Amino acid sequence: MKGKISLSTEFLGKKTKSPLVLPAGIMGMTWSGMRYVIENGCGIITSKSLTLESRSGHPGPVVAEFAGGLLNCMGLCNPGIIDGLAEINDFKKLMPEIPVIASVFATTAEDFAELSRYVNDSKSDFLELNLSCPNVMDEFGLPLAGSKEQVTDIVKLVKKVSKIPVIAKLSPNVTNLSEIAVTAEAAGADALCMINTLGPGMLVDIDLVKPVLSNRTGGVSGVCVKPIALRAVYESYSRVTIPIIGTGGIASGSDAVEMLMSGASLVGVGSAVYAGGIEVFNIINQGIAEYLKKHNYTNIGQIPRLEKLHEQA
Ligand SMILES: Cc1cc2nc3c(=O)[nH]c(=O)nc-3n(C[C@H](O)[C@H](O)[C@H](O)COP(=O)(O)O)c2cc1C
Repeated sequence: MKGKISLSTEFLGKKTKSPLVLPAGIMGMTWSGMRYVIENGCGIITSKSLTLESRSGHPGPVVAEFAGGLLNCMGLCNPGIIDGLAEINDFKKLMPEIPVIASVFATTAEDFAELSRYVNDSKSDFLELNLSCPNVMDEFGLPLAGSKEQVTDIVKLVKKVSKIPVIAKLSPNVTNLSEIAVTAEAAGADALCMINTLGPGMLVDIDLVKPVLSNRTGGVSGVCVKPIALRAVYESYSRVTIPIIGTGGIASGSDAVEMLMSGASLVGVGSAVYAGGIEVFNIINQGIAEYLKKHNYTNIGQIPRLEKLHEQA
């Protein structure tokens, strides 16, 4: 097959030049951070998860690196919904064609609905419900994405209010993730994003004889979570028809292709930005393009998908 290779794709009716997404919590706090990421090859931005009131998060240290990735206990620090959306609006003035996902976090369906009213009045293209933060469990209890009832209540209420498509971000820290994916779809979610960080986990400073993170524990992300993210996406893809943003441990072009093959429509790249620097987006784009070329494909829609689970003999 001949023709120019293109990484552009469409997600819920919006065009993007690359399938790579900046996931929530990674450089998506300010318009300048968002622009920097896009200028370096990313296709779609997700904001930091925004709450009704600003939050200072946990005291440092809140991020620790280890051989397999990152441990973080940021504690949802964010400027609050009003100031957070102002950053998105400023970014959209500069780059109106780039899709932006506004991520929000609350603990009740009513507060999620309140947040989505604010997002309606912004220039955000999509609304992402963070149903799954593991590093604020001391404060808020188990992730909402662990309960089918809560996922149903939140997604249903938000869908009544939201004027833009709604993405449910799910947690890997449940025993029935694909069941929760089906539940979110049934409640009206337009897309899914998975996975949030795994855990909580812990690292120990052996000289100080104490946990490395101030909060003792945090969410695990980066290369070590890739197999879990791929499995989560694949099992959910086998059971739902809505698109999935596959996130977790993606650091190379071949990782991204694995994620697309497992059923993702877009691919999140978070911790790899810490590990590999901002160049990582262009490196991954290039790796995907090389894969397309090797197999005589011209666009990512031609990458074959794994046979769905229930389709297997
Ligand atoms: C420092 C840090 C902060 C994060 N903050 C958020 C957040 O605010 N909201 C959210 O939904 N996910 C948050 N996440 C999870 C990421 O969006 C992503 O789902 C996870 O890190 C897995 O992807 P990765 O392995 O590519 O990093 C955060 C992750 C990290 C490392």
